[in-house]
Amino acid sequence: MSQARITIDRDFTIADVPRRLFGSFVEHMGRCVYTGIYEPGHPQADERGFRQDVLALVKEMGPTVIRYPGGNFVSGYRWEDGVGPVEDRPVRIDGAWHTIETNAFGLHEFMDWAKEADVEVMEAINLGTRGVEEARSLVEYANHPSGTYWSDLRRKNGAEQPFDIKLWCLGNELDGPWQIGGKTATEYGRLAQESAKAMKLVDPTIELVAVGSSGRSMPTFGTWEHTVLTHAYDEVDFISMHAYYQEHDGDAESFLAESVDMDAFIDGVIATIDAVKAAGKHTKQVDISFDEWNVWDQVKFNDVESVEIAKAGWKKHPRLIEDTYNVTDAVVVGTLLNSLLRHGDRVKIANQAQLVNVIAPIRSEENGPAWRQTSFWPFERMARLAKGRILRLAVSAPQIETTRYGGVDAVDAAATWDEETGRVVVFVANRSLDEESDLTVELRGLTGLRVVNAETLTIPEGGDRHTANLETTQDSVHMVPLAGAEVVDGAVRATLPPLSWSVIELA
Ligand code: AHR
Repeated sequence: MSQARITIDRDFTIADVPRRLFGSFVEHMGRCVYTGIYEPGHPQADERGFRQDVLALVKEMGPTVIRYPGGNFVSGYRWEDGVGPVEDRPVRIDGAWHTIETNAFGLHEFMDWAKEADVEVMEAINLGTRGVEEARSLVEYANHPSGTYWSDLRRKNGAEQPFDIKLWCLGNELDGPWQIGGKTATEYGRLAQESAKAMKLVDPTIELVAVGSSGRSMPTFGTWEHTVLTHAYDEVDFISMHAYYQEHDGDAESFLAESVDMDAFIDGVIATIDAVKAAGKHTKQVDISFDEWNVWDQVKFNDVESVEIAKAGWKKHPRLIEDTYNVTDAVVVGTLLNSLLRHGDRVKIANQAQLVNVIAPIRSEENGPAWRQTSFWPFERMARLAKGRILRLAVSAPQIETTRYGGVDAVDAAATWDEETGRVVVFVANRSLDEESDLTVELRGLTGLRVVNAETLTIPEGGDRHTANLETTQDSVHMVPLAGAEVVDGAVRATLPPLSWSVIELA
């Protein structure tokens, strides 16, 4: 058994927990919308076609903000196609995902669904094939009260009150050669600046996210952010980050260390933002919207699925990237959440991509059931329990050797302290595949605490690290009690199982 030690001090905090850190993403892609959140005729659908079984799982998981309608999809989308009487809406091809889009579901339907799910909407505009005019007309349609062409059209279409959408993405992944209407950093930086200006002239209260790099491995990473922000720093509030991780060739050790990459990626973007801030003598601070992150087998997508999609011809809501998540994936998701929380002073928004079916924590079958994937659990626990201040941790742990990242700490942790309730919550992963970790959490300046609940997500009895929640075995992997966690002499003592992500609640 290895020994790990975490020191927490009430006086060493990072920031308030940004509640928008627990965001998700609904794209018109595969079966996220159609047969995901929306399936008229499903036995569990209401009169609007909203699947109540899926909605119940979404509410249980607790996302606070949801990005919509894409993703790559948005770069070829005309939002006007998705409003007005459904029978008049055009059927279009979606080039991004080689799909037929019926437009049966659009902005009004999403706003209604989001209200029911009790989530904030983060609306993305198309800066691939469209520009300033579309950007400002959509803000007017959504947020202007009445008495103008676009606002009155919204009212005519059934929404008397403005949608009042505060958070907007200025396009999606426009640095990517795959993106419809992709751009150079200068082209995009100027377009983002002018679109932002025009949008804020319609509604000065909105917050805007500029497109950052699609990933840390993009050849333009760093210079893209620098150029875009040099143009648009004054007009935008956030710059986006996207990252997807996967296990390569059975190298689980490196996969379990991917939060090291996420930490470094975030630190790099902070450095670039602050360099532009300093050089431009700006006083305001631009923060980060990590608006796509998750585990995703992109090798399979690029080598197999994308070829199949092209061969299959044009279909409505085909199955796309419906990755099945196992125990290992869920522990990695837990460590990625830890990394985001540790950076809550600068990462103010984060969206796990996506919500249902498409690389998602929730799965649903057409005319069939809906269930929780393994990755549902770390998200649900952290969204529910991370409250108050984020604590700065000192971690001392044995090293695990990895091919991608060299030696990494065997444990990965984040923690919060809620002054109002006095609760401290520690989120901690054991990255070792075979060794338990004997954990000590020293509590400084936090007296009288005891463990009120301790749970872990780990390999279930009779399973292995590949065990997943399938349609037929929906509940194989879930949080189970972490036996024996207790406070002894002002320190938490717990034994973390190998390959686990645990939550220890103290009150
Ligand atoms: O989430 C799936 C896709 O990944 C999104 O559409 C795109 O933005 C990213 O490349």
